[in-house]
Amino acid sequence: MKSLADKLVPESVKKLIPYQSARRIARNMNSEGHLWLNANELESCCQYGDISQGRNDHYNRYPDFLPFDIASSYQDYCQLHHIESKNKLSESAELIAVRGADEAIDLLVRTFCQPGNDQILVCPPTYGMYEFCADSFSVKTAIVPLLDNFQLDLANIDAQLEDTSIVFLCSPNNPTGNVIHQQDLVTLLEASKDKSLVVVDEAYIEFAPHTSALHLMNDYPHLIVIRTLSKAFGLAAIRVGFLIADASVMTYVSRLIAPYPIADPSAEIALKALSEAGIKQMQQQTQELIEIRNWFTAQVATLAIVDTVYESNTNFVLIRFKGDHNLYDYLLNKGIVARSPANESSVKGCVRISIGAKASMEETLEALKSFQ
Ligand SMILES: Cc1ncc(COP(=O)(O)O)c(C=O)c1O
Repeated sequence: MKSLADKLVPESVKKLIPYQSARRIARNMNSEGHLWLNANELESCCQYGDISQGRNDHYNRYPDFLPFDIASSYQDYCQLHHIESKNKLSESAELIAVRGADEAIDLLVRTFCQPGNDQILVCPPTYGMYEFCADSFSVKTAIVPLLDNFQLDLANIDAQLEDTSIVFLCSPNNPTGNVIHQQDLVTLLEASKDKSLVVVDEAYIEFAPHTSALHLMNDYPHLIVIRTLSKAFGLAAIRVGFLIADASVMTYVSRLIAPYPIADPSAEIALKALSEAGIKQMQQQTQELIEIRNWFTAQVATLAIVDTVYESNTNFVLIRFKGDHNLYDYLLNKGIVARSPANESSVKGCVRISIGAKASMEETLEALKSFQ
């Protein structure tokens, strides 16, 4: 039987033969050569200071085209370390490492949407890259804003599903900080079964691990989950993220993946972060950050200029101020760079503030207190 991915994927992708990089060919051959003269690499590792003192002094060689050890470490992390056992991966789920969650978004649009023909659907205010990736590939974006409580407008999403290849959701959502109600997600997954793939971007999931949608992949193979090491793991610079999807989806995505997506130095750092000790450290840091966030939001909520501090399940907080005060510019004048969510009427005038170290949040609080 045809899967939804089979139905949605454009003919051009169906016909595509993945680029046969030297590593991909070698892996397929399963060969044990002793002279590797197939990829126009230098045969020895250059020493530039101590930068080549990596895991195996192999920086002269191209990395593995799909770094299996990071993918399997992340799989173990999903299976073992998520607080709720219900977050286990489904049997048919596959996982690939990509260059940050942003690459996963781009790959999905390029795999399942035909330029000038297909559309994605987004629910703003939300992360801007979904629409940007669609725009950059001449794919239309249907917009169904979140309701006043920042939850899904299921009726209006439903009305668009027939024409939509991919629904992009973000939970916990950037910039609002809330989690999508799981029952709403299930309702959407039921309604979209034969129509649209549903992506849940879980970039901030470590701040609310019990809310992950991973366990729903068993029942809904058209659900795709995106993750990253950029947020709770604190490794934004190494550009490592993950795409978790059913084999029926992954078979097409893996045709478009770059020949060598993950650089070896990034892979080495990612592996350390995903070790037993690394995960423990991340969980401890996350707990400390949540305590600072809760302290900061409680303090900010008492200020006269503040209208609403939205509940956050992330490492940032969205604040609505009274009147027309421009707190973004005010903070900027004090050298504090926050973010004003762009072009979204429902969060106009709000400021999104990342939660940093306690001293940074004390300084930010003092700045807000002194606003006249
Ligand atoms: C919801 C969301 N998804 C994805 C990303 C990008 O993640 P990465 O650094 O892994 O590309 C961000 C970054 O801010 C984000 O907020």
